[in-house]
Amino acid sequence: MASTIRSIEELTLEGVTTFIRVDFNVPLKNGEVTDDTRIRAALPTIQHALREGARVVLASHLGRPKDKVVPELSLEPVGARLAELLEDVDVRLTDDCIGDGARKVIQDLRDGQVALLENLRFHPGEKANDVDFARELGGSCGAYVNDAFGAAHRAHASVSALPGLIKERAAGFLMRRELEALDKLRTNAPRPYIAVLGGAKVSDKIGVMEALLEKVDALLVGGAMANTFLAARGLNVGKSIFEQDKLALARSLMSTAEEKGVDLLLPVDVRVGDSTEASEPQVTSADAIPSDAMALDIGPETEKRFRERLRRAQAVFWNGPMGLFENAAFAQGTLAVARAAADCPGFSVVGGGDSVAAIHKANLGGRFDHVSTGGGASLEYLEGRPLPGVEALRT
Ligand code: 3PG
Repeated sequence: MASTIRSIEELTLEGVTTFIRVDFNVPLKNGEVTDDTRIRAALPTIQHALREGARVVLASHLGRPKDKVVPELSLEPVGARLAELLEDVDVRLTDDCIGDGARKVIQDLRDGQVALLENLRFHPGEKANDVDFARELGGSCGAYVNDAFGAAHRAHASVSALPGLIKERAAGFLMRRELEALDKLRTNAPRPYIAVLGGAKVSDKIGVMEALLEKVDALLVGGAMANTFLAARGLNVGKSIFEQDKLALARSLMSTAEEKGVDLLLPVDVRVGDSTEASEPQVTSADAIPSDAMALDIGPETEKRFRERLRRAQAVFWNGPMGLFENAAFAQGTLAVARAAADCPGFSVVGGGDSVAAIHKANLGGRFDHVSTGGGASLEYLEGRPLPGVEALRT
């Protein structure tokens, strides 16, 4: 019999201690959550479980504490924000994700109550996908729900080993929404299908680029990763960031694109500065970058060409900024792509922390068909790789 993934709605949750893996890996500043998108995105699942009378145990990682307790990476501010969003529901944060304290909080939970376990990555067992750690974490729970799409590409204990120990397991609403949106692009995306990739490194995107070249009509490349392609074409990129050891790979991706008949568009002009702190961008042709300058954004002619391709797109996937958009002087290319992708007539998906931050900055969030909460996870899924967190849900 083919394996299936159930939805949370198919589980009986009344009176059941339900472990919900969420991705509350959110940005913090001075002990406060600065962007609660991921917390809000998990609310439908949490609220459904509460309405059904579950005893909810929430678990997440936060940052990369390297297997030890890092007080600044406590989930406390996240718990506080969650409690505000859930209004009259009491959220109890455990002092550790395993051990006597956590066990007692879980045992004392009553129907409709919430416990939030402290940062899973304070323990080495999480990243090691350790079954004993998983058992201690959630082995006493009667149901398991994964709503942490953003962490589904990690074979970690709370994502991979634990669901294998709990028969009643399912995907939460966010997980389902993410998979449905990306599935539309994985199989039979309407044409023209245009992908826009940016960000710092080609090396982060090799797999997805190879996969996209099999499917898209055009691949638009910006950000520092475009410099590697420009350098691979023999252009002088001045002081720009690029990956010297990826030039051969960039050449091979360009010839694959040519063989497949995919238009691989690189910047024809760029905005340059003398450092990342520069405040007065100069526009230069991509084949005339001065030796003492850094390309920090795509230029206006490139924006126009990218916009032109996006204007007719029936499907768009965008991941990664077109430049150093956190410096307002070099945000224009990213914002132009954000607007063009939002305006496209087709199905539009954006993923990755920086691109999502850019669309929020431009108030365009509601104009995309899907804004993914997963960066790496959405890339790996589009690449066609099985995600451990999704595979582990199969029954
Ligand atoms: C993310 O922010 O992409 C996810 O929460 C995964 O975090 P990680 O890259 O630290 O595993």
